This record gives sequence, C-alpha cells and structure tokens, in this order.
Amino acid sequence: MTATSEPAPAPLPRHVAVIMDGNGRWAKQRARPRTLGHRAGARAVNLCIDFCIDRGIEALTLFAFSSENWQRPADEVSALMSLFLRALNRELDELHRRGVRLRFVGDRSSFSPELRNRMATAEALTRTNIGLQLSIAASYGGRWDITQAARRLAEQVRAGSLEPADIDEQLLGRLVSLAELPPPDLFIRTGGDQRISNFLLWQLAYTELYFTEKLWPDLDRATLDAALESFASRERRFGLTGEQLRKAHA
Ligand code: IPE
Ligand code: IPE
Ligand code: MG
Repeated sequence: MTATSEPAPAPLPRHVAVIMDGNGRWAKQRARPRTLGHRAGARAVNLCIDFCIDRGIEALTLFAFSSENWQRPADEVSALMSLFLRALNRELDELHRRGVRLRFVGDRSSFSPELRNRMATAEALTRTNIGLQLSIAASYGGRWDITQAARRLAEQVRAGSLEPADIDEQLLGRLVSLAELPPPDLFIRTGGDQRISNFLLWQLAYTELYFTEKLWPDLDRATLDAALESFASRERRFGLTGEQLRKAHA
C-alpha cells in the first residue's frame, strides 16, 4: 500500500470540555450518601486526565461546580469544597511532574481563602508547562463569564480607552474564560441529561456535542473512545455548505 492510499488519521479534538454529571445518582443506586458519589467521581477525573494525556489531546476542561451548585444543601457544598482541596493537595505534584498546566475558571470570590490560595499556587507552579492544558471550571457559569467580560469592556469604555462602536466578537471573545485556548471541539456530558447547564455558553458556539448515559463515577476508556469516534465521524460545517467544505479540502 502506498503512503497516499492510507486513510487519513481520524481527526482528534484539540480541546475537550466535559460536564461530569451523575455522581448523586451513582450513590443513590448504591443507597449511599451523595458525597460518596462525589468521592467516586474524583477517581473518574484521574481516568479522564490520563486518557487525554495518552491520546495526545491538548486541552481538557472539566465542569466541577456550577454557579447554581452553591444552592445545593450546605453539607453537600462543604463536602465538595473539602474534596476539591484534598484532591488539589493530593494530585498537584504529580500533575506538575507530568507537564500538566492547571487553570481554574469561575468566580473565586465565594471560595475560602485557603482554597483560593491553593488554586493560585497550582496555577503559578504549572504556568509554563506545555503538556495537557487542564482547566477546572468551578463556581463557573457561562452567563457569569459573559457578564464579567462585558463588565471589563464597560470599564475600558468608562476609562476612555475604548469606543463602544469598536466592541466586536473578537474583543469580547478575548475576555471570556479560556480565551488563550482553542475553543472546545468536543463537549461530553455524562449522566444522560442533554443540556448545557450554564457551562461554556460563548465558547461552545460550534462545539460538537456528545451525551452518554454513563454516570460520571462509572466513566471508562471505552466511553471516551466512543465519544472520540463519534467526533471523528462528524462534518463540521461552521455555517458553510458541505460542498464548499469539500472544495476547500480538495
Ligand atoms: C455532578 O454530579 C457533580 C456536581 C454537580 C458537583 P451530580 O451531583 O449533579 O449528580 P446527579 O446529577 O445528582 O446524579
Ligand atoms: C452541571 O451539573 C454542573 C456540573 C457537573 C458541575 P448539574 O447536575 O448541576 O446540572 P443540572 O442541575 O442537572 O442542570
Ligand atoms: Mg447533576
């Protein structure tokens, strides 16, 4: 077989964004408290990170806690906060050793000073790492994100350094979270619900969506492979016709 007749490698997403959902139901199936589901979910986070590193995916963004999740019962919220802190303390050195760069996106003002410090330390430690670009969305909401970007533009207008007429998608797009990364190519939500739940509203404009019934703590490599396979089979048209795309690639 000549080199030219070999099939092209399946396109791999550069950036995968994941809603890790189903921890509570996983625990309920076992008649255990929801917090046990969150603990089991932390193991699935490691599996997902390992998978992305092995497959050579550049960026992974995990939705860990939404703006709305603050309204859950206080004991569940505080269990989640201590779980974050413990996971960060436990995993940081190993992630750093593997060249992972960590970012946190979301409104940090509601976190404890201790957690905020650890987040800042983790970001500073891994700042120059060029391996997997791992972002954790915590206290994050897509509406919050667009709002904070709009507020920063308004501040520039007030300071006289920006004309409202000069505000365009590019300018706003540079101020939303993760602007330094390519937008997500593939979105995965576990747990069977087919919604965005206020995740990356701006950034997901042209992302391919993949939903699986698998509950997050049950995540396995086969599920992630199935998501990659589905991604590879899609035609991303970005508003063009299929014919235009085929002509451009000819
Ligand atoms: C996702 O699992 C984790 C967080 C939102 C923090 P859930 O806790 O939402 O689990 P279900 O959806 O109730 O099963
Ligand atoms: C989305 O899951 C947020 C995270 C996974 C962190 P939720 O469980 O909060 O979403 P809804 O309430 O089912 O939409
Ligand atoms: Mg849920």
